[in-house]
Amino acid sequence: MSIDHPEELAALQAAGRAVAEAIREMSRRVRPGVTTKELDDVAARVFASHGARSGPQLDYDFPGTACISVDDEAVHGIPGPRRLRDGQLVKLDVTAELAGYYADACRTVPVGRVRGREQRLAAAAQSALRRGLEAATAGASIGAIGAAVETEVTRRGFSVCADLQGHGIGRRIHEEPDVPNVAWDGPPLTDGLVITVEPIIAAGLGDVYMDEDGWTVRTEDGSPSAHAEHTIVVTQGAPILVTA
Ligand code: MF3
Ligand code: CO
Ligand code: CO
Repeated sequence: MSIDHPEELAALQAAGRAVAEAIREMSRRVRPGVTTKELDDVAARVFASHGARSGPQLDYDFPGTACISVDDEAVHGIPGPRRLRDGQLVKLDVTAELAGYYADACRTVPVGRVRGREQRLAAAAQSALRRGLEAATAGASIGAIGAAVETEVTRRGFSVCADLQGHGIGRRIHEEPDVPNVAWDGPPLTDGLVITVEPIIAAGLGDVYMDEDGWTVRTEDGSPSAHAEHTIVVTQGAPILVTA
C-alpha cells in the first residue's frame, strides 16, 4: 500500500508496535532449553494485549503465531516442541494485523554462546538490512535496495538467498512490489510506499528448498541462515521505521 493519510500511518504504526514488542519479549526468553512453541506463545500473548492477530495465520493459515526458524531453516519455520540448544541461531519473524493494517519484522537471535561464524552471519544480516534501508529513498530504484544488500553480504563473505525477498505490505502481508535482495533494474520507489526490507542470507551457498512440512524453507547445503527485517514507509529522506 501507499500511505496518503496521517491516520493510515498511525494505524500502521500501531501494528508495528505490536510486532516490535513481540520480538522484544520473545528475544528476552531465547535460551538453551526453551521450545519454539513457548516463544510463539509469547508472541500470541503480546498480540492479544494489543488487539492484534497473526498475519501468517490470517492470510495463509500458518500453523503458528510467528515464523520461528532455526539454523539451516531460512524462513517460515513452524513453532513446536523442540528445544533450542546452545550455539544455534533462531530467527523470530513476526507479522501482526491490527485493525486491517499489517507490519512485519524479523530478528536473528543467538542461543546461548554461538561460534564466530554464526555471530558474523547474524551481524551481516543486520548490517545488510541497515544498508538496504539507507538505499530506500523516494526516486531511487527498488533495485538499489537489493544492490546495497548484496554488496554488504558478499563483502562479508556470505551469500544472499536470492529466492527469498522483501515485499510491499500494508493491507495484506504480501503486496506489490517485490523487493529483491540482489541488484536489478527495478522501478522507482515512491513517497509513502510501504515495503519490507529483509535480507535472508546464508553462510554457504544461498540455494534453498522447501521442507516436507510444506512451510519451512531450508538452505540446500545445510549451512546456517540469518534474517533481519523491518517494515518501512518510503519518504524523500530516511524511511519511517514502522517496526523499530
Ligand atoms: N513474515 C514472512 C515474510 O517476511 C511472511 C510469513 S507468511 C507465511 O514475508 F505464512 F508464509 F508464514
Ligand atoms: Co517477515
Ligand atoms: Co516480510
